[in-house]
Amino acid sequence: MELKGQTALVTGGAVRIGRALCEALAAEGVNVVVHYRHSGDEAQALCADLERRGVRAWAVAAELTSGAACADLVARATTVAGPLAILINNAAVFHKDHLLATTEAKLLEEFWPNLFAPLLLMRAFAAGSAGGKIINLLDRRIAGHDETCVPYVLTKKALAELTLLAARELAPQFTVNGVAPGAVLPPPGRGADYLHDQAGPSPLQKLITPQAVAEAVLALLRHDALTGQILFVDGGQHLL
Ligand SMILES: NC(=O)c1ccc[n+]([C@@H]2O[C@H](COP(=O)([O-])OP(=O)(O)OC[C@H]3O[C@@H](n4cnc5c(N)ncnc54)[C@H](OP(=O)(O)O)[C@@H]3O)[C@@H](O)[C@H]2O)c1
Repeated sequence: MELKGQTALVTGGAVRIGRALCEALAAEGVNVVVHYRHSGDEAQALCADLERRGVRAWAVAAELTSGAACADLVARATTVAGPLAILINNAAVFHKDHLLATTEAKLLEEFWPNLFAPLLLMRAFAAGSAGGKIINLLDRRIAGHDETCVPYVLTKKALAELTLLAARELAPQFTVNGVAPGAVLPPPGRGADYLHDQAGPSPLQKLITPQAVAEAVLALLRHDALTGQILFVDGGQHLL
């Protein structure tokens, strides 16, 4: 797909990896709807910055905890920006919770943004667009069995399977692919030492940057013959 001139909706796009995705898209000439929940100031500042770089950008807020909110987000994004060609499901919640520490509330807090919203956003996006490209942000943990974050791992494994199901169902109009990063940034409020402790060994012994994740996303978006693929951006850690 020729990316220049297309319009993308990036969930959780105001900060951290989502911000890097928006910046990388803008560098390719893609107009961006920056979805945010609490990071309104950052979303507005990012949009102003992207517009200075020559693309159109809009900040749109939504709490992704209901089907109505997901459908409404796609509708509002389309109203302000016109037809969407790209959906990037990046917004997520990550908590460290073993099985015995898991509660119904914690399950829903992670399952809504990490799994239910991506499914419902894909549905609304596919229903409202003639064709396009979908990328789901996964996690290299889908290749293993990390019992320290049970709800999170379940959401990402399910989203990986949903990526493959959607790739089949939405073809040939849409491609649906996933990107599964290793440790990139510590959770909000935690320092670099946390990331260093948690990252673990990897064959390439490389720190994964938000820009490396964005490069993988762009590669999948550019390619018209790839669907149902999951790219691990983890220095090979999923092999261990
Ligand atoms: N960070 C890593 O090292 C890492 C590693 C592997 C995979 N990943 C995956 O890569 C993606 C980006 O990672 P990240 O660490 O940058 O993400 P993050 O900071 O944990 O979350 C991204 C954004 O999601 C939004 N969000 C969370 N819950 C929401 C809800 N209920 N409704 C609407 N928006 C909600 C928040 O937006 P607001 O700030 O506007 O509230 C948040 O800034 C995620 O899918 C993550 O699972 C990350």
